[in-house]
Amino acid sequence: MQKPADYQDPKTVEVMFSAQQIAERIDSLANEIVSTIGKDFIIVGLLRGSFVFTADLIRALHKHGAEPQIDFMTLSSYGIRKEGGNLITIERDIADDVMDRTVLIVDDILESGRTLDYARTIMLKRGAKILKICVLLEKPGKRRAEVEANFVGFMVPDRFVVGFGLDYANFYRELPFIGALD
Ligand code: IMP
Ligand code: MG
Repeated sequence: MQKPADYQDPKTVEVMFSAQQIAERIDSLANEIVSTIGKDFIIVGLLRGSFVFTADLIRALHKHGAEPQIDFMTLSSYGIRKEGGNLITIERDIADDVMDRTVLIVDDILESGRTLDYARTIMLKRGAKILKICVLLEKPGKRRAEVEANFVGFMVPDRFVVGFGLDYANFYRELPFIGALD
């Protein structure tokens, strides 16, 4: 893929949360999750942004005694930024049955909330018994849908953030830290 014209050298990306800060936060998040929903649940990670976070989270959950199942779903959000637009579709669905299960939806960042609202609605329609949401990051004050995350890694200011799975034009996902683009 072509790099965008304003692509910034990863070495110059400002670090907001270091790899170590993230690891420590994920460990306490896992503890919170197990204390709240127990050890038997299914994780539905939203691709592509959540794959790094999910991978670290499940290993922290193991440390805290959880035995989750893991599945992934890809949602596309064409027109999501447009006024009134809410065209979210399932590009790739989960394979597992969520009927009567405790479902933990995991995403990279909660901004407008439309993606998570859509994912939550689908899981509840399919009979999820308990539905919780966990995000690595939350940008406050940008909500367009009524949805709250039950577990939040870090609150971030209204800047464009990348790394740890989050991208700009599908770049920067590999950064081991969370950074802000200029
Ligand atoms: P929303 O909450 O439905 O508006 O969308 C959240 C999705 O937008 C996330 O899953 C990210 O993929 C993307 N997103 C929102 N803010 C940022 C950002 O600052 N950096 C990278 N991706 C972002
Ligand atoms: Mg996403």
